[in-house]
Amino acid sequence: MYSTERKNTQETAKKTINKILAEHQITSTTNSDSLDKQHNRVITLDKEINLDPSKTIMSKTDARGVIEYANDYFMEISGYEEYELMGQPHSIIRHPDMPQVIFKVLWERLNEGKNIHAFVKNLAKDGRYYWVLTNFETKYNEEGIITSHYARRKAAPNNAIYTVEKLYKTLKAIELKQDMKTAENYFKGLLEEKQMNYDSFILSILGIDEQTMASYFIDQKENTQTTTKKRSVFGRLFK
Ligand SMILES: Cc1cc2nc3c(=O)[nH]c(=O)nc-3n(C[C@H](O)[C@H](O)[C@H](O)COP(=O)(O)O)c2cc1C
Repeated sequence: MYSTERKNTQETAKKTINKILAEHQITSTTNSDSLDKQHNRVITLDKEINLDPSKTIMSKTDARGVIEYANDYFMEISGYEEYELMGQPHSIIRHPDMPQVIFKVLWERLNEGKNIHAFVKNLAKDGRYYWVLTNFETKYNEEGIITSHYARRKAAPNNAIYTVEKLYKTLKAIELKQDMKTAENYFKGLLEEKQMNYDSFILSILGIDEQTMASYFIDQKENTQTTTKKRSVFGRLFK
């Protein structure tokens, strides 16, 4: 049921975005199927990678978001090898459909050492996309300076993606037509109207409470065979 609705929303939103892109004389990359080697960036494909809900995509970055570690599932889904990811900014998997304002909110939280559950559409090396829901933990040194961020991501539930996709298309269109500030004000207005803050809004989209959200990110038995050593680090940090 949701997949048909999502498809329709995608079609409508794609038309709107293509119209805006055309107005701004930007070429849409949707439906291309090769890597743009000249510009060394990935061309997007309108094909989703379905994640295994029992698995977690993990990464660790320095304070600025430069990747220092990624687990096996990260590499399996993104299609990158370790040597291609290490030392790269996390935006290597940034999908162009993602509104900038979501990353603004994300970084405001991370810089305060706070967790944030965000829906993120990520871009795999082959151009396909995958939706995740995030969970973060920040580490400090003895001087109280941020040294690293740990991210865990789970498959974003399908019914939530339908709502999120609609919102993100709107935010992205506002950013393209106006700017990020205007998109931010729109988002704030939406939350005010719903009398919610960012966190309660995310919970309401998912239809769960805080406790259920927390348990969503507690490891069951994922990655047990391949990442015993790695799991102990992440297990300790995120439980
Ligand atoms: C630990 C950590 C994990 C992140 N994970 C992602 C991710 O999965 N996808 C993504 O697009 N950005 C992720 N980011 C945010 C990126 O650093 C970056 O802000 C974002 O891709 C937007 O890039 P841009 O500001 O260059 O457009 C992550 C940041 C941190 C610190």
